[in-house]
Amino acid sequence: MVLGRSFSRRTRKGNSYSPHNPGSVNRPPGLGRTATSHRTYFPAAGFDWALPIYDPLAKLLGAGKYSSAVVDWLELAPGHWVLDIGCGTGTLAVLIRQLHPGVAVVGLDPDPRALALATHKAERAGVEVHFDRGFSDQLPYSDASFDRVCCTGVFSLIPPEEKETTLREVHRVLRPGGSFHLVDLFKTPRGSFLWHLVKPGLRFEVWNVDKTIALMHQAGLINPRKTGQFPNWFWPWPLACYQAFR
Ligand SMILES: C[S@@+](CC[C@H](N)C(=O)[O-])C[C@H]1O[C@@H](n2cnc3c(N)ncnc32)[C@H](O)[C@@H]1O
Repeated sequence: MVLGRSFSRRTRKGNSYSPHNPGSVNRPPGLGRTATSHRTYFPAAGFDWALPIYDPLAKLLGAGKYSSAVVDWLELAPGHWVLDIGCGTGTLAVLIRQLHPGVAVVGLDPDPRALALATHKAERAGVEVHFDRGFSDQLPYSDASFDRVCCTGVFSLIPPEEKETTLREVHRVLRPGGSFHLVDLFKTPRGSFLWHLVKPGLRFEVWNVDKTIALMHQAGLINPRKTGQFPNWFWPWPLACYQAFR
């Protein structure tokens, strides 16, 4: 039971993250990727050891302001169900629940350490948020479960071959009329030049706006568009805000 309502999940026997997912097999953990039960992921601060400095760093870079803007953008109403994919240390999920106590919030992330911090954060704030361990391309929820799905600072970190499945999963778990809110780095000409300098050391892929919107279309999402952007002092690329509907 979550927040007084039964939450049906697509459980798989034993560990959910099995080699049945073809994208997960044989990808060796490398720089900036952490292995968990057959799968790897890019942790919040790039490396596991850096997780404790993720929140202070994000705060220093003004993430608090962005989180508030994202909450406004979600246009929430009492009774809504919200899923935060790649919730990390739970800052956005907790803030949503603090500002909208009548909304049910679920955060999902593959990183157990980030989820432990997120759970702690929710407890300290005295709010109820449900956190699940999982990956964006295998959402453990029933069809049409959520009114809003958000995903901030994660999409570039998802391997290219899992991006379309992720968007299809978003479409599946959204209720008709529900909206998807994506905040992600996007490639600019200046960023493209810097990208070539850092790319050899990184295992993630930053896309341009058109490519991201085209994939949202392909996944069945309606009217995907870029609605705004945030500056980003940490990486060579700014952050785009995209919205789409089911
Ligand atoms: C840069 S952090 C962003 C965290 C949070 N959304 C925020 O805006 O502060 C990226 C998060 O994505 C998670 N992540 C990485 N790969 C993922 C995947 N395939 N599915 C879901 N989450 C993933 C990481 O564990 C990490 O917590």
